[in-house]
Amino acid sequence: MKTQRRSLTWIAFLFLFLVVAMTGCSQNSPKQLKNAYRNMFLIGTALNRMDILNPDSPSLPVVKMHFSSITPENVMKWEVIHLEPNRYDFTAADAFVAFGEENNMHMVGHTLVWHSQTPAWVFKDVSGEPADRETLLQRLRDHISTVVGRYKGPLHAWDVVNEALEDDGRYRQSPWMRIIGKEYIEKAFQWAHEADPHAKLYYNDFNMWYPGRREKVIQIVRDFLSRGIPIHGIGLQGHWGLDYPPLEALEESINAYADLGLEIAITEMDMDMLPSPGPYTGADINAHFEARKEIDPWHDGLPDSMQVVVSSRWVQFFQVLNRHHDKIERVTIWGVQDGASWRNNWPVRGRTAYPLLFDRNYRPNPAFDAIIKLPVEK
Ligand code: XIL
Repeated sequence: MKTQRRSLTWIAFLFLFLVVAMTGCSQNSPKQLKNAYRNMFLIGTALNRMDILNPDSPSLPVVKMHFSSITPENVMKWEVIHLEPNRYDFTAADAFVAFGEENNMHMVGHTLVWHSQTPAWVFKDVSGEPADRETLLQRLRDHISTVVGRYKGPLHAWDVVNEALEDDGRYRQSPWMRIIGKEYIEKAFQWAHEADPHAKLYYNDFNMWYPGRREKVIQIVRDFLSRGIPIHGIGLQGHWGLDYPPLEALEESINAYADLGLEIAITEMDMDMLPSPGPYTGADINAHFEARKEIDPWHDGLPDSMQVVVSSRWVQFFQVLNRHHDKIERVTIWGVQDGASWRNNWPVRGRTAYPLLFDRNYRPNPAFDAIIKLPVEK
């Protein structure tokens, strides 16, 4: 009886030892993307509701293994967290933060002020007419203080204002701009800073390599810095494709933004690799093109020849990013696996896209294999 108990103790001990050893190894394995890039920048991903609210989601082990930063893909947007006046729903956002805390992850809040995914009531008064300036400012302030205040501490950064500019550098004529004027931008940064003085506050946009937008962002940031308006980071969304942006333009932009002395992050990287439905390189979620068979050619799988093209483009981008790793805080990929990417439905609905680093079965694809090998150990 005694011997039996002793051998059972030994088996339990051995089992425990193996578990601890395996966990230890996996924390530092060169096969982990975040680990391969630990001397370069954080490697992030975006989580959606299905992952956050389902502890058995197959995404979660992949996220824990390979990513050091997480951004909520939708659950902190105004239409989710604050769909109706005076009623906030923090269910999914709280679960996102709990997951990040449990796994010691860097966390980014996305996003506080945007023209998309914001409910119509925000911009209206009780009779359905456009709200007046004071009302909208007050709503903005309440929203920012409540949401940023709730996650003060665990969240490290916020995409405070999203897509406030056009490609040519004009202010986007969003309801924010029409009702408040351009001051809504600085107010948002000020209120976010008041609610969490330690959070890094970002301006985030697409096509950040267009000269018009770039010059305007630089001008706004300089103005903010000179007036003591808190801004700490520039987010380049990184919805990039096989033939845009030109690598030189990307590199020039990284240098120009870095000269401002702010953090730079690639905040939503994915690869537009399907045939283009039209001349468009942006990421305005309201842009839509008709579905056509010719522009959805890889419904049944991506041929190897095409996978090579896609992977080599990922490598080109990562070569640029790696070269400038001293200026880049984080590179976030906009989702875990191809099947869950917004690219399958935007800018054309119902296509089959391969824009991420894991396939529909959560297996790393050749682009992943290529970029994990790029960093040189320091
Ligand atoms: C996208 C999400 O990925 C989709 O699930 C959603 O339907 C629309 O928004 N720029 C942004 C992101 O800042 O929030 C957008 O995310 C993609 C473009």
